[in-house]
Amino acid sequence: MNLLVLNGPNLNLLGTRDPDTYGATTLAEIEAELEAAFPSADFAFAQDNAEGALIDRLHAAHEQGVDGIVFNPGGYTHTSVALRDAVDAIAPPVVEVHLSNVHAREDFRRTSRLAPVCVGQISGLGPSGYALAVRYLLGAPA
Ligand code: DQA
Repeated sequence: MNLLVLNGPNLNLLGTRDPDTYGATTLAEIEAELEAAFPSADFAFAQDNAEGALIDRLHAAHEQGVDGIVFNPGGYTHTSVALRDAVDAIAPPVVEVHLSNVHAREDFRRTSRLAPVCVGQISGLGPSGYALAVRYLLGAPA
């Protein structure tokens, strides 16, 4: 099964960015843990800080027939109609993941423009949120 794990703005800074909120694990470590935990999955990993590049990556995943997408849209979660439209326009199921509990932080983080067009949202479980999203997409029992 081909899965895309896509991360948005500022997530390249994981490990040093506000560790009290996001933890000490780097994005490379999260990706390596997914590779190790799910040897049967064929992963593509991508991170970009630019909204248009993320949209292009979603379109490419659709064109390539990717089976599912784990997507942490970072701050664009709360603002981007264009990313929401991209998720809505593509066939692969998208699971929205956040390391932090966006519902327990500032008011503006409680709204996700993407969640209504995703199959679900995982928030506040740290790096394990990515693994849980992969388990769902692989159809594995919880
Ligand atoms: C985040 C939550 C967002 O509100 C924030 O802008 C991020 C990271 C998370 O993973 O907890 O950049 O998506």
